[in-house]
Amino acid sequence: MNLSTVVAIDGPAASGKSTVGQALAERLGYLFFDTGAMYRAVTLVVLERGIDPANEAPVRAVAESLTIDVKSSNVSDGRLYTVLVDNTDVTWAIRAPAVDANVSQVSAYPGVRAAMTVQQRRLSAKGRVVMVGRDIGTVVIPNAGTKIYLDATVEERARRRWKETQARSGGMRQSYAEVLAAMRQRDHIDSTREVAPLRPAADAIVIDTTMMDLPTVIDVVYGYVVGAREVQEP
Ligand code: DC
Repeated sequence: MNLSTVVAIDGPAASGKSTVGQALAERLGYLFFDTGAMYRAVTLVVLERGIDPANEAPVRAVAESLTIDVKSSNVSDGRLYTVLVDNTDVTWAIRAPAVDANVSQVSAYPGVRAAMTVQQRRLSAKGRVVMVGRDIGTVVIPNAGTKIYLDATVEERARRRWKETQARSGGMRQSYAEVLAAMRQRDHIDSTREVAPLRPAADAIVIDTTMMDLPTVIDVVYGYVVGAREVQEP
């Protein structure tokens, strides 16, 4: 496994991980892989089947039974990639507020994490991939060639997420205050769970994006990736 060409980008919701990861993958000619989409897909199916997200055993069974694919896409409706669950396109369905509200609880279950981690390692085994999530540098690929942790204040992240939902046609509208409250709640669950909590790896490069625009963040991260490559391949 050539993990030196894996770029791990972790950080809280709306810290810019997906946009930066996608742009970086394009620039490097790497695959873009957003692991949060997998936890969202499990949550969506749990809700669709009427399973109580508080009930760990059936939730874990769903996680272990699904085939989830996150792949690049030519559909031009604003998507960065397509998410398939057992071959059904759920790319937009996994962004619904009901999924937002329940995904942290679902992703805190150890059995769900174990099932997703196996799939994530398999999908990244060939290297040349930008992986985005919460625990990529700490748990999924601790030997990644570059580890980045993107951060920003919760107010700024809520503002970005709120703008995103306003812009999306057909999206379900929420007020800024609702988005902010939901984000605080999710941050709390993600960073205090027992298994693979959200935190930077000891050797991650931490970048605070609160005052930075995205092109700048992309340039900075690209610089680190190229720098790490030169160290590994002198
Ligand atoms: O990045 P996102 O908002 O799409 O992630 C959705 C949820 O999935 C997030 O609240 C925490 C969880 N997640 C995780 O636990 N581990 C990951 N590697 C990615 C996401």
